[in-house]
Amino acid sequence: MRSGHFAEVSPICPVCRHKGVSSALELAHVSRSAGDQIFEGILHCTECSAEYPIIDGIPILVNDVAAYLRTNHSQIVQRRTLTHPLRTLIGDALGPDAAQEQLRRRSSTYCRDHFGMWDPEESEGRAPPGSVLRLLEAALALVDTVPAGPILDLGCSVGATTMRLAERFPDRLVLGLDMSFDFLRTAMSVLDTGAVCYERRRVGMVYDERRFPVPVKAPDQVDFWVCDVAAIPLPTAMASLVVSLNLLDSLHSPWGHLVEASRMLGAQSTLLLSSPYDWAPSATYIENWLGGHSQRGPGRGASEPVVRQMLQATTPYHPDGLTITAEKLQHLWQVWVHERSTVAYDVHVLAARPQPTNSPS
Ligand SMILES: C[S@@+](CC[C@H](N)C(=O)[O-])C[C@H]1O[C@@H](n2cnc3c(N)ncnc32)[C@H](O)[C@@H]1O
Repeated sequence: MRSGHFAEVSPICPVCRHKGVSSALELAHVSRSAGDQIFEGILHCTECSAEYPIIDGIPILVNDVAAYLRTNHSQIVQRRTLTHPLRTLIGDALGPDAAQEQLRRRSSTYCRDHFGMWDPEESEGRAPPGSVLRLLEAALALVDTVPAGPILDLGCSVGATTMRLAERFPDRLVLGLDMSFDFLRTAMSVLDTGAVCYERRRVGMVYDERRFPVPVKAPDQVDFWVCDVAAIPLPTAMASLVVSLNLLDSLHSPWGHLVEASRMLGAQSTLLLSSPYDWAPSATYIENWLGGHSQRGPGRGASEPVVRQMLQATTPYHPDGLTITAEKLQHLWQVWVHERSTVAYDVHVLAARPQPTNSPS
């Protein structure tokens, strides 16, 4: 985390925010830093004194830090210096059901898509890497102008879209927010070193180590923070552009996400949203799916009309709702599972803006 970025966006305390109060955070302790980059330290709330760690340059700004640390402890303290043969041995010992293995698979999928185009040994054939970057470009083509101000990349995973946004919008701060410490540590390491190292799944529990340089054009504009997109610890209307790619159907409350993402928008800002609407009960209770059920109802179970309707609805932040300014019904987003498997989605992409309010000021 860069102290300049912290000062620019003035994050608020997640614990106080949960209680409906907006309290400032301050840097209480720095134990490892270089220039304005803080690698290890502690933020604390000026009102309730809640503490938030900064680990490997990543601040953990969630409502229940203790629960987060308990759940993610093994990721956070995991050694990254073990060589590939040792990691494969440990992987085999832990077995396919281990949380570590699930993480390895997800990391393989996202690292390969976000960075694989820079890998000199990557085959372009089936599922060419960079699918999410092509999706981001298709989404950006739906926006005419982006006012001044910070940009948010919600659910950024390993961060190539965040870095691309910084390249596309010179001099803007771009914050990549995600709940996965492991993904963000990869993102931060690419930012700091200009190279990626990940394990690409070949088959079953067999992985190949991939290590190669990644060009990062505007590293000083980027930061990665652990935050829950359901309760973003940032002031209302602070973002010029909010990007949410393929996140909606991964959340407990997709509706809560739409409200929270729209809370971040200023009057001239845009929300870019894409989703494959691949609803699954493991991520979202069926009651919270936006479409995907009730096929005998008026929308015949389609998700698109429900999402449009929800974006256009009144929220406490935008009484007249958002206007959908442009839309693409289908765009290919294709990701790698292993050498003999890829998943191809046709995602729905849309751009939405706060409706100018008609009420007298
Ligand atoms: C399907 S992935 C999409 C990643 C990336 N946007 C892309 O398209 O390649 C969803 C991402 O959202 C993150 N995520 C899930 N729930 C979240 C939450 N409540 N707050 C922040 N990030 C979340 C996951 O860790 C994951 O990185």
